[in-house]
Amino acid sequence: MSKLEVINCAMELRQQVSRWRGNGDRVGVVPTMGALHAGHLCLVSAAKTECQRVIATIFVNPTQFGPTEDLGKYPRTLAEDLRLLAAEGVDAVFVPSDLEMYPPGFSTFVEPPDVAHQWEGAFRPTHFRGVATVVLKLINMAQADVAFFGQKDFQQVAVVKHLVADLNVPCEIAVVPTVRDADGLALSSRNRFLSPEERKKALAIPRALHDAELAIRSGQRHGYKVMNDLNQHLIQGGVDHVEYAVAANPDDLTVMVEIRFPVVLLVAVRVGATRLIDNILIEAT
Ligand code: PAF
Repeated sequence: MSKLEVINCAMELRQQVSRWRGNGDRVGVVPTMGALHAGHLCLVSAAKTECQRVIATIFVNPTQFGPTEDLGKYPRTLAEDLRLLAAEGVDAVFVPSDLEMYPPGFSTFVEPPDVAHQWEGAFRPTHFRGVATVVLKLINMAQADVAFFGQKDFQQVAVVKHLVADLNVPCEIAVVPTVRDADGLALSSRNRFLSPEERKKALAIPRALHDAELAIRSGQRHGYKVMNDLNQHLIQGGVDHVEYAVAANPDDLTVMVEIRFPVVLLVAVRVGATRLIDNILIEAT
């Protein structure tokens, strides 16, 4: 197992990356909030395939949690996360403190792009402002060539892509497919909050997405019919509440009234006290 360097200070991170890039190495960064699972490790593995040097970041970003969301409850498993990252052969992990990221007097935030306003943005109004701000800070601190994000957070990826394009940020964005358990449930740090009974109910999500994909592939072109059925299948399958279940244009995330390819199906539901999101991108075959 290679030695994992743990860096807490942004200046030190920047110096290390500058040395690597000076040697001609391509550097990848994998931003995370810790509580790592196989989905994160796939991001690392994609980064390792593409880059000579890989940094992971672990920071539970307070600014992306709303006032009613429990930041304190977010799982923190640093020792285990470091063990997993070392086993994956990550070169360095950046673990900044709250003070390093948001020192006293911090007051500048990124106004997120239009694509942030609906879906997650409607249910979590300050979420993408926090995400856009911290992602820009992490990219600026790391100065990596490419940053890796999971397709599981489809809207987050759209926000980040717009952010780097609109603000001329010299960092490529790579998107890695969602990793699922054998039964289809998308991996998420929040799955650990599900009781065995709730986990069974949560399987309604991949099933409903799969059924909707089948309907589209069989020729269903009425967006509202697809969305109504998706909604119903989620509820009938056992989820407690559907926040949204939509067919959208993958570029701007606007509702697709008439289905065309590619289309993304986005869902957010609650199972018990746990909020889960998932999506499926359907492309022409
Ligand atoms: O996807 C996440 O884990 C977070 O939103 C991110 C990108 C690390 C920013 O805090």
